Amino acid sequence: MQEAKTEGPRGCTKEELGELLVFLHNIFKPGLDESINVGLEYSHVISSAMNDSENLRIIKYNREIVSHVGIHEIYVKIDELKLKVGVIFGVATHPNFRGKGFATILLKDATEKMIRENYDVSILWTGIPEFYRKLGWENAGSKTTFHFNNSNIEVLPDYKDLEIRKVEDESELKTIVSLHNETNGVVWSENAAKLLLSRQAIETYLALRNESKGYAVIRGSRIIDFSGDSNMILALIKYMFVSKKLERIEFQVPSNSKEASILKYFGVPFEEDYIGMMKIINLNNLKETLAKCRINVERMNAAHYLVKQCTEERILDEKQLTKLIFGPEVITQFKCSSLPINFYVAPIDQI
Ligand SMILES: CC(C)(COP(=O)(O)OP(=O)(O)OC[C@H]1O[C@@H](n2cnc3c(N)ncnc32)[C@H](O)[C@@H]1OP(=O)(O)O)[C@@H](O)C(=O)NCCC(=O)NCCS
Repeated sequence: MQEAKTEGPRGCTKEELGELLVFLHNIFKPGLDESINVGLEYSHVISSAMNDSENLRIIKYNREIVSHVGIHEIYVKIDELKLKVGVIFGVATHPNFRGKGFATILLKDATEKMIRENYDVSILWTGIPEFYRKLGWENAGSKTTFHFNNSNIEVLPDYKDLEIRKVEDESELKTIVSLHNETNGVVWSENAAKLLLSRQAIETYLALRNESKGYAVIRGSRIIDFSGDSNMILALIKYMFVSKKLERIEFQVPSNSKEASILKYFGVPFEEDYIGMMKIINLNNLKETLAKCRINVERMNAAHYLVKQCTEERILDEKQLTKLIFGPEVITQFKCSSLPINFYVAPIDQI
């Protein structure tokens, strides 16, 4: 009899993509109709994986995929800065092979790949933070979520003088991508936008008035992306609430945004939360931002940094450094009005 063989960690080949999609579907959407499959929901991710399936890291046992960790490459605009970000997604091990360290091996392997390929940071969204915390990811960044319902929708501006169009085809795609890329967040290509916006249950509305424009994307009762003129966006939300006869709308915005200031001024209830779990991969592109704050950072070893600002000096571990740069909690010793930076990823770009 042939001996059982473990392969990997390694990149998935194009020929193995089909098997991988079925593997992920069975773990994340067990029992769901094949038509609501992982491939459709993550078509933008799969589309980039088709070009570079090396970003889908796998371990095989007896020629079958038993564990996977994916890296999705995105660029995030933060004012003048643009960071290369690796979104970790689809972390999964076959139930019969759990607890053997496979996902840990793959996450370490993904981190090494991101270091080799000059990613700046990594981000992920999870319900099991302790698992990732052990490997250096930490809650960071900030977002503010507002809640509208019949008791407070009236505070939003009127939409009567706006021309509002539901976006049904690709004719407005260029306008939407250009509005989207003006604000902080994930930089979109037209192709990525097309795939993101054409997923199930997603509707996009565009508002126009003279030269001003704004758009908002809704899924269920949640605004998952928006950009453009703030007042027009708020009026669009009121329009969607009324025309779709919704009972509530959830609206997530960057914590430092104009929309957040307006809505806080109106007294609309909100929650503050982290953007996700983040891990610094490479400090080079962040050093200039830190230098503006007269902060100098030297890497001491894989997980520790010597941080200096004027006469202050302290060793921070990688999670504390993540907080220093991305917040929201502050390291009180080091003060600077440019920190934390305005890193933001809208719900539409989360995996
Ligand atoms: C989470 C998962 C990927 C771990 O895979 P694995 O190959 O068994 O992971 P490892 O063997 O490297 O590590 C196991 C560790 O994960 C921890 N872990 C597993 N599931 C967990 C959970 N739901 N909550 C918290 N920790 C969990 C175990 O406690 C164990 O910790 P230990 O090493 O301190 O004992 C696997 O359980 C899985 O596929 N779950 C279903 C899909 C999922 O939830 N994926 C994560 C999406 S963010």
